[in-house]
Amino acid sequence: MSTLETKDSPPVTMTPKLYIQTNGCQMNDYDSDKMRDVLHASHGFELVDDPKQADVLLLNTCSIREKAQEKVFSALGKWRIIKTKRPNVIIGVGGCVASQEGADLQKRAPFVDIVFGPQTLHRLPQLLDQVRLQQKPVVDISFPEIEKFDALPEPRAEGVKAFVSVMEGCSKYCSFCVVPYTRGEEISRPVNDVIAEIRALAKQGVREVNLLGQNVNAYRGALADGDIAEFSLLLHCVAAIEGIDRIRFTTSHPVEFTDSLIEAFAEIPKLVNHLHLPVQSGSNRILKMMKRGHQREDYIETIRKLRLVRPDICLSSDFIIGFPGETDAEFEETMDFINDIGFDLSFSFIYSPRPGTPAADLVDDIAPEIKKQRLERFQQRINEMTAAISHSMIDTVQTVLVEGQAKKNPLQMQGRTENNRVVNFIGHPRLAGHFVDVYIAEALPNSLRGRLISTADSLINTDSTAPTQQYA
Ligand code: SAH
Ligand code: F3S
Repeated sequence: MSTLETKDSPPVTMTPKLYIQTNGCQMNDYDSDKMRDVLHASHGFELVDDPKQADVLLLNTCSIREKAQEKVFSALGKWRIIKTKRPNVIIGVGGCVASQEGADLQKRAPFVDIVFGPQTLHRLPQLLDQVRLQQKPVVDISFPEIEKFDALPEPRAEGVKAFVSVMEGCSKYCSFCVVPYTRGEEISRPVNDVIAEIRALAKQGVREVNLLGQNVNAYRGALADGDIAEFSLLLHCVAAIEGIDRIRFTTSHPVEFTDSLIEAFAEIPKLVNHLHLPVQSGSNRILKMMKRGHQREDYIETIRKLRLVRPDICLSSDFIIGFPGETDAEFEETMDFINDIGFDLSFSFIYSPRPGTPAADLVDDIAPEIKKQRLERFQQRINEMTAAISHSMIDTVQTVLVEGQAKKNPLQMQGRTENNRVVNFIGHPRLAGHFVDVYIAEALPNSLRGRLISTADSLINTDSTAPTQQYA
């Protein structure tokens, strides 16, 4: 028997094994955790790192750009070999490609047993039983309103940070984007459901939450009395939860960045001094073609107001380079724009036509080399600005949420600043899960190095035997 055959032989233990590959955004990471949780609660599945050891293989897909979509069939190609050797293995495909392709996906990959969408992942246990019973594939890519969240088990915290989905979908229909088609229209979870989930996480030691949604500031969640809360009110409710001391959100849209949200930044110190606000382009004509619903000046005005209440706020954004018809001059407008605003680490991609979106019908006559050159120049400038922000943090004291031991040096602890910089410093493992003050001594390309100067929360006061001080 060859080594490969040994590795591929069926798992010997009774605990069913699950392998999940996640492509795409933070929303997909969140959804994959939920897939793990539902299958653990229903069938006792445990996650494994090796697809060859799993009984069920799930691929959580992304279709935002062509490259992301291509990954689906290369992963499935590998899994087909596993299934040929172990025909009882169940293969499921979820996420945005599944939502878009539905039953067509099985035509191209007939060995796929389950196709499920982002809104039906909570039905995985039933879909799995159905496949096993009927011995034929199933497809469920419907959009059953908010049912998904009602059907999910209690959240399981892993570490000091957690994502919490507050709304799903998008109703903006930017001309280039597939999200409204794959994830459906905007729908918000009721306030009490979000609060209950965060309270449960806080009890398990979570100190920082990242409120997730395609457009979190389009949040319109029902209150217990039937009134509707907007996002700023939700932020106030989350800030009142004991144990949660840091709040982030991803992602917001410039059009709904209301004055009440700016006031929230003034009134809620737990809201981090960091904002990711996608803008896509600095050219008004391109913004219009993208159907973004605002102009460059509106974005500048929002940032001006925000900086009145948070002068040092760090800003990051998403950009699409080489949208159909983008001229040299329009690209330069984007370059001027980033220089004027000053952005931290941001995401930028060359435009990728997505089938079924209005922009896919536009004439795109910019040569690929030109797009590549623009992207390189753009990213170089963003990288310079990112490095400048890191350097400006040298000789300052930052509040760091300690996540655990540094990977490369067990004597060091690792945490993050409000603007999401990784900081390594010598410290006791007991600091994990606590906020500490760290003096920043050095800025490296991907992290900062610092010295612990004090704990910002009550760690030392509550236990005088804590050996924290000797590491200062
Ligand atoms: N509101 C969501 C947007 C999700 S898409 C959010 O801000 O997270 C994430 C980013 O992918 C977008 O902001 C955009 O910059 C990029 N993107 C979306 N469609 C794209 C396309 N067709 N080509 C290139 N980039 C795209
Ligand atoms: Fe996509 Fe625009 Fe919505 S980028 S997710 S359609 S705001």
